[in-house]
Amino acid sequence: MTFSRIAATGSYLPERVVTNHDLAERVDTSDEWIVTRSGISQRHFAADGERSSDLATAAARRALDAAGWDADSLDLIVVATTTPDMAFPSTACMVQAKLGVTNRCAAFDVQAVCSGFVYALASADAMIRTGVAKRALVIGAETLSRMLDWTDRGTCVLFGDGAGCVLLEAATEPGILGCHLHADGRHLDMLKAPGVLVGGKIDGNPFIEMDGGAVFKFAVEVLAETALETLQAHDMTGADLDWLVPHQANIRIIQATAKRLHLPMERVVTTVAQHGNTSAASIPLAFDVAVRDGRIQRGQTVLMEGIGAGFAWGSALVRY
Ligand code: ACO
Repeated sequence: MTFSRIAATGSYLPERVVTNHDLAERVDTSDEWIVTRSGISQRHFAADGERSSDLATAAARRALDAAGWDADSLDLIVVATTTPDMAFPSTACMVQAKLGVTNRCAAFDVQAVCSGFVYALASADAMIRTGVAKRALVIGAETLSRMLDWTDRGTCVLFGDGAGCVLLEAATEPGILGCHLHADGRHLDMLKAPGVLVGGKIDGNPFIEMDGGAVFKFAVEVLAETALETLQAHDMTGADLDWLVPHQANIRIIQATAKRLHLPMERVVTTVAQHGNTSAASIPLAFDVAVRDGRIQRGQTVLMEGIGAGFAWGSALVRY
């Protein structure tokens, strides 16, 4: 049987750091409010002209360096993003070109907002298991700073830009143990950016709109549910996990989920304080940080889980 395993990880954060104090000069907020309600102290914002594909490419180069792979050895590139460079072509095709890949490998985007990375990982894993690909680059990349409504202090303080990725390769032992994905479109009004281009003009609000309280409650409920679903499918409990790498939306959501899994916070990777909510990029970014600082070790069991607008959510159990 063929499985997929993570060969290497990479991430990239834009240079510009924006602190809560910087935001307080622009909107009616405070460091104290943002830290207390979300756990966020700072975030990175892309420079003018720096696109999601640039962040994604920088993260990919770091992973390729770590694995010692030539970019032309890839046969699949999947980019999860809510903030593509253009309506089309896909950001994955742009990354392919920027990496100098000329082998005509498959490349496509996944749009599942903050759960995008888990969806992309599950898709690439399935394609490797079924022999469609042998080496895959799976990226989460976002420039959400461009979608912020600076008149809405309830949302503009929460998000940041960045990219993270993993390289997957075919293996005889499972690295990706299993994934569970869900969505429920009935909740689409809780979180959305409804504006679309119609006849050259934007129809509707192009910025993020959110019912924060409702999102909070829903996220805590289904994140614990999907984590338990994936653990139970493998006869595991929270006690079997070395690490939980959750979507980094809000420290209080992360703490509430960890509590429901009876997992001490010492075994949860959190980067939300430094990165803010980077949507589809947050899980691979956090994963890469913990791999590079030596917390996540080869052979350890890691649960990734994410939730985003739609609502769409899911989890992936990984033996790293
Ligand atoms: N600075 C200061 N005050 C603020 C700010 C701010 N940035 N934003 C809102 N407030 C005020 C409100 O106006 C309100 O004041 P009022 O009581 O005088 O009306 C007060 O703070 C409380 O507002 P709430 O919205 O009730 O605050 P809450 O404690 O719910 O926290 C938050 C808001 C942080 C958005 C919370 O609901 C949350 O984290 N929700 C989860 C949403 C999330 O993380 N979304 C990310 C995208 S989805 C995802 O990734 C899963």
